[in-house]
Amino acid sequence: MRYLVFAANWKMNIGPVEARQYMRSFLDAGELPSGRGVWVFPPAVSLQAVAQSLAGQEHIVAGAQDIYWEPKGAFTGAISGALAAQAGARKVLIGHSERRHVFGETDADTGKKMAAALAADLQPVLCVGETLEQREAGKTLAVVARQLEAALGTKTRGEVTIAYEPVWAIGTGKNATPKDAADVHMAIRRWLTDRGAKVTRILYGGSVSLKNAEDLLAEPEIDGVLVGGASLDPHAWAELVRTRSA
Ligand code: 13P
Repeated sequence: MRYLVFAANWKMNIGPVEARQYMRSFLDAGELPSGRGVWVFPPAVSLQAVAQSLAGQEHIVAGAQDIYWEPKGAFTGAISGALAAQAGARKVLIGHSERRHVFGETDADTGKKMAAALAADLQPVLCVGETLEQREAGKTLAVVARQLEAALGTKTRGEVTIAYEPVWAIGTGKNATPKDAADVHMAIRRWLTDRGAKVTRILYGGSVSLKNAEDLLAEPEIDGVLVGGASLDPHAWAELVRTRSA
């Protein structure tokens, strides 16, 4: 059976008090269908609240939205991989489009953050994706390959998780079609396996909702979804993680 991942990126929403209420509502909706995992990426202040709500859960885990690459020190406002892990994170998003485009994070930064994540025993989820201008110029695969290489180097080992999130599809209501996404996922998978990756998991993100999740997940290249807006309501999210997949 395919294992499908449903990842919720809350971005700058849902503080610790609301996070406990959210997790209670979400967990009250019942057991996850088998063969599914849920990864929740709250803002850093809510990590511990989410992680504590998940005690004893095997297939639902918490992750950080970002980390800084230094292990500790005078870096006001930043959190290290070790601090995120101590708050209960098991995963971390690296190079999310908003980190790159709003906060000016570079390809080189993502490489340092990947290394820091692994050093702190956090499983990284590397986010890649092209802008509309790059897509229209036919540069999608070149951009994605550049982002992969900068973050992962020329050799990858073991298990790698990538989230393909076309920038033009994030928060716009315009999702990539399952076929658009599958073409890029296939190219990413080939890139990874050519460089030694043993297990690859590629999530799609960008305006995923209750309306389009079933069609996206029916595409065998799509191993799961990374969801922003449609993950903010616990009831709707509980419904989304139960989406049928053909
Ligand atoms: P939306 O689902 O709101 O488009 O956000 C996607 C995203 O950036 C998830 O990381």
